[in-house]
Amino acid sequence: MNRRSFLSILPAGLLAARSARAADADVQIFLNEPIGPISPLIHGHFIEHLGGVIYDGVWVGEDSKIPNIGGVRKALVDAMRAIGPSVIRWPGGCFADSYDWRDGIGPRASRPRRRNFWASEGRLKDVPEASPARNDPNWFGTNEFLRFSKLIDAEPYLAANLRGMTAEDFNQWIEYCNSPADASTLSERRAANGDPGPFNVRYWGVGNESWGCGGDLTAEEYSVEFRKFTAWTPTYGKPLSFIASGPDSGNYKWSRGFFSALAEKNPNLVNRVWGWALHYYCGTTGKGDSLDFTSEDAYELLDKANRMEDLITRHWSVMSEFDREHRVKLVVDEWGAWHHDTTAVAPHHLFGSVPTMRDALIAGISLDTFHRHADKVAMANAAQLVNCIQTLFLANGDKFCVTPTYEVFAMYKDHNNGQSLRTVFGAPDVSYTLDAKPRQVMRLAGSASRNGNVLTLTAAHTHLTDPLDTVIRISGGTVKSARAVVLTGPDIHAHNDFAQPHAVKTSPAQVEASGSELRIHIPPASVIKIQADLA
Ligand code: AHR
Repeated sequence: MNRRSFLSILPAGLLAARSARAADADVQIFLNEPIGPISPLIHGHFIEHLGGVIYDGVWVGEDSKIPNIGGVRKALVDAMRAIGPSVIRWPGGCFADSYDWRDGIGPRASRPRRRNFWASEGRLKDVPEASPARNDPNWFGTNEFLRFSKLIDAEPYLAANLRGMTAEDFNQWIEYCNSPADASTLSERRAANGDPGPFNVRYWGVGNESWGCGGDLTAEEYSVEFRKFTAWTPTYGKPLSFIASGPDSGNYKWSRGFFSALAEKNPNLVNRVWGWALHYYCGTTGKGDSLDFTSEDAYELLDKANRMEDLITRHWSVMSEFDREHRVKLVVDEWGAWHHDTTAVAPHHLFGSVPTMRDALIAGISLDTFHRHADKVAMANAAQLVNCIQTLFLANGDKFCVTPTYEVFAMYKDHNNGQSLRTVFGAPDVSYTLDAKPRQVMRLAGSASRNGNVLTLTAAHTHLTDPLDTVIRISGGTVKSARAVVLTGPDIHAHNDFAQPHAVKTSPAQVEASGSELRIHIPPASVIKIQADLA
């Protein structure tokens, strides 16, 4: 859409206001139209025994010279604490459906080494057999993960093996984690591993991608397994929240098939599902390199990231056929850009790459989409935390740095526990050409929330070269004062690495506040946050 056609569809009131002092974009926040509270679980994380995520990323070992807390990389813990409490999912991913939780308990030196699910994938084919990425030593098991969750103030979310293990094994894992001290042999084994008290794990994934690596099941077959795994599960007095293996992006057949099979057995069984796990990777574009890409590649990928909105609303609408009151929520427990691992910082970092501002924009677009649908999305987990897809950190040996995606999580934490508000973004699309065809991508999208008297607005601005003068109108309130920060770089390729760990970081931005209006000049290829104190 060009500027003229954009102006022609603006309501008359807005046009009059624009002519008083022109802006390129209008944002309208409706204080009296709450959507739902933004759960901190929406800013969630995911770690899998894959490449350099656990060994090198999270776990360095207690005897390491690298500063650590009980074997966990200290720099990672410190950085995670700074972005606030949320949730963390483990041990996979596809790995989860190959994992026997019993391998990861007991004295570390006597735990078995096991072929990793990912051992023969891509670059791991060429790493030595001794690499923990290829043959898992199981040093990082249940106790280590649950201690790590506690260290970073995150709710643990465990994913159970449904492809290779039984409902009984699942029940016993719950018993190992949640049974009271001294209650059973398994709670004694937990105590022997250093944790006498129960961990009280609430979130349990029942399989992962059961339509694919989790068993190649049909939706109907999976619904049978889900019923078996969740029937009469021991709770030890604390409610458990089961997350069922949901669809791969736009597979609405999977959503409908699962819920209709459950409801056919008994409509009340739908209530056994706390969360319906949607996975959506916007992938990559062009030649797939995370650092070497064209403007057109960037626009195409940002457009693909923006597809999340449609996936959420369409799966939600299928779910409403079986759950009119919408008790079951969506859990987007894998999302992110997935580039080729040509820029990985170590040979064993399968799916690793160095992320840029392009990935930060994808993080902003995704998190803002979840906020706008805070009534539907109960949890979301970026895949994956370190040395992987859409990663927040790069780590190799004693080297460590945060990525632009981390900076977005740090900016967005102010939405946590706020009330999401209906917000309308009016900005002309960005036009570009791909394969000789004209294309468009949205230029500005974001979300707003209110927490007490503080209003927080965040947005991703996709234009790669032009700034955007934006007016923000607050319907239903006035502003006393405002402040803003912006995340941007010299261009969309800007990134952090071990040599320049803070090349991309937030800086203060000018924002004018007057009555119920805010004005800001948004730089190209940026993520912004504006906070206003309401009168
Ligand atoms: O995040 C990498 C992999 O992507 C996960 O293991 C799997 O669930 C998905 O296909």
